[in-house]
Amino acid sequence: MTDIEHPDHNRPLRSFVIRASRLTAAQQKALDTLWEGYVVPFQNELLDLNEIFPNQNPVTVEIGFGMGDSLLEMAIAQPNANFLGMEVHRPGVGKLLHGIEESGIKNLKIVSHDAVEVLEVGLAIESIDRLLIYFPDPWHKKRHNKRRLIQSQFVQLARSRLKIGAEIHLATDWEHYADHMMEVMSDAEGFENNMGLQGNWKTPDRPETKFERRGIKLGHGVWDLLFKRLT
Ligand SMILES: C[S@@+](CC[C@H](N)C(=O)[O-])C[C@H]1O[C@@H](n2cnc3c(N)ncnc32)[C@H](O)[C@@H]1O
Repeated sequence: MTDIEHPDHNRPLRSFVIRASRLTAAQQKALDTLWEGYVVPFQNELLDLNEIFPNQNPVTVEIGFGMGDSLLEMAIAQPNANFLGMEVHRPGVGKLLHGIEESGIKNLKIVSHDAVEVLEVGLAIESIDRLLIYFPDPWHKKRHNKRRLIQSQFVQLARSRLKIGAEIHLATDWEHYADHMMEVMSDAEGFENNMGLQGNWKTPDRPETKFERRGIKLGHGVWDLLFKRLT
């Protein structure tokens, strides 16, 4: 019996399942020694972004950074922007901790908790400048579709945390999810498609991600969506 087939109905349906995955020695060491320096503790209360990033630079949030390579690359390339990465997968957190330490950057911090709860409780209204969700778990099977992160309710939660004029950038390598994303985002109150009606972003300004590379090897296409919070 798995958590997916037999969910505990007292718990909210989550967009992820934590699988027991082996940590490399380097990831374990990073978790043991670097956690306090770069992981922001989430204790079911509002995070103080000014304390996390003591400057006036814009804050980009990435949900589900996976192994973190692309997030690290963006943070290194944009020293005048702050990045807050959210991920529950321990090996990825370990790997990114190692990368942050090695590169010496100060503009990238991690929250290792369910991003939906962090958005709900931890982020203030109109507090972030950009939201990135690259290759969220596609939950292919129809009966699992409801676990997908991109749903109307979540999008309205995200909208409330974005500043007016701030952008949300989504990407997927799963065509059905791309169609679903476009439908949800096009119908969402308060957003405008930066690429025109039903348009995808053909030349996105992001590094290639690990999950994307895997999809391309399997012959998948890639769809990026860029929407702006209008109201
Ligand atoms: C398919 S992977 C993609 C990872 C990465 N963005 C990439 O493209 O390589 C999706 C990731 O999202 C994370 N995730 C899913 N739901 C999440 C949530 N609610 N909060 C935090 N992380 C989440 C999963 O743990 C997983 O690592």
